[in-house]
Amino acid sequence: MNNKKIAIIGGGNMGIALAKGILQTSWAAPEHIMVAEPLKSRFEHIKNLVPGVKVSHSNIEAAQFADIIVLSVKPQILLKVIDEIKPALKDSKLLISVAAGLTTSEMEKKSGGKVHVVRAMPNIAAVVREAATAICPGEYATETDMAAAAHIFESVGIVVEVEEVLMDAVTGLSGTGPMYVFQILEGLSDAGVKVGLSRDIANTLAVQTLIGSSKLIQETKEHPAKLKDLVTSPGGTAISALHSLERNGLKAMLIDAVEVASLRSAELGIKRKDKSSE
Ligand SMILES: NC(=O)c1ccc[n+]([C@@H]2O[C@H](COP(=O)([O-])OP(=O)(O)OC[C@H]3O[C@@H](n4cnc5c(N)ncnc54)[C@H](OP(=O)(O)O)[C@@H]3O)[C@@H](O)[C@H]2O)c1
Repeated sequence: MNNKKIAIIGGGNMGIALAKGILQTSWAAPEHIMVAEPLKSRFEHIKNLVPGVKVSHSNIEAAQFADIIVLSVKPQILLKVIDEIKPALKDSKLLISVAAGLTTSEMEKKSGGKVHVVRAMPNIAAVVREAATAICPGEYATETDMAAAAHIFESVGIVVEVEEVLMDAVTGLSGTGPMYVFQILEGLSDAGVKVGLSRDIANTLAVQTLIGSSKLIQETKEHPAKLKDLVTSPGGTAISALHSLERNGLKAMLIDAVEVASLRSAELGIKRKDKSSE
């Protein structure tokens, strides 16, 4: 077990998923975790979801309490929150942000010093501890800081390290990724109904097909194209279906979607910078 104290500022979907994950891996004791949340009416709810953790309505109290501060508020208010907790940010504290589009240098500048910053981009599957997270270090973050951040996000899934210039690409692929999968699953479920299955059975079969196929790729480490070849027998059903997918441009559609989401992530960052320099 780690002896660092952790503050999670923002007790919403991501903040609570992280608190739960950390507790489930026993990386920190419950009394070493404090969640800061403005709405007192949510305190009981948070205490029920993550028993034993401290809950505060004061961001500065949470920042003073902790060695590691995880900022899990919406990107629009993140810099305001850093401003608020600035007096508690000593050099040795580690600041981790999960906010889309905010760069480590913006956060360092706002913190007003050589603050250790790690930027992370997880996804909503953190709620079921199956997230894909990318992390990157700020200018002053050390290897120990990166290891601590990796521990936190490994408690809710898998972690990769990337250069910061790639964080918009990560946002477009895996940060936004669950939405693509939900759309694909909804389509498959509708398709099952169209060919005569009940909605329940269509959903169950579609979801399990996605889980099973993903596990197959994960465990065999084969390229998807190779596994596709394995299931397309000459003159069979799969090659007919593949022809239809190719004709309708499924892969091009996915590439477009990821590209447009990555560009949008970069654009949101630029817009915010323009606004703050006005
Ligand atoms: N959810 C995702 O799929 C996902 C994926 C990757 C990254 N992220 C990032 O994770 C961050 C949080 O997202 P989320 O989905 O968890 O959003 P969320 O559920 O809305 O959580 C945000 C939390 O912050 C609280 N909050 C608002 N103002 C605050 C303040 N001044 N000080 C402290 N807490 C405050 C909110 O409380 P109230 O509800 O009472 O206002 C809410 O509990 C965002 O930056 C997002 O970009 C999310």
